[in-house]
Amino acid sequence: MLGNVPFFSSLDEKRRKSLASEGKKLYFKAGDPIVGEGAAGVGFYLILDGKAEVRKGDRLLATLGKGEFFGEMSLIDSQPRSADVIAVAPTKCWALTSWAFNGLVKANPEIALVMLKELVKRLRASQSSPTS
Ligand code: CMP
Repeated sequence: MLGNVPFFSSLDEKRRKSLASEGKKLYFKAGDPIVGEGAAGVGFYLILDGKAEVRKGDRLLATLGKGEFFGEMSLIDSQPRSADVIAVAPTKCWALTSWAFNGLVKANPEIALVMLKELVKRLRASQSSPTS
């Protein structure tokens, strides 16, 4: 299940298999809210299939698809969810509890680096002006 997910490409097959069983698969219909701005963060989500929009009020911050993740921010700093995340197509996620997420990052620093790179990419995108 996690074999061809780039997020986990640094892990060997044995580790990926044990990890797969730590999370659970969740299914959402188009229009289903997955994460709500302001709510307490209890999970990390990796999209296995489908598409989700990240929205803050009426602003579309990002559209995320297969292989991309969300929900990490609240788990990293224990603050409420920074945005809404809504499925915009039938979407299958692999989800981890905050406890399992901490364990994953502590045991696999390579994963933290993959996540940091993506966070920097998102920060740069949020700083770039639409006219430049
Ligand atoms: P979290 O704050 O836990 O819940 C909402 C999630 O939306 C957040 O974690 C990120 O995973 C995601 N998110 C917030 N802002 C952006 C952005 N600018 N680009 C992409 N994803 C974002």
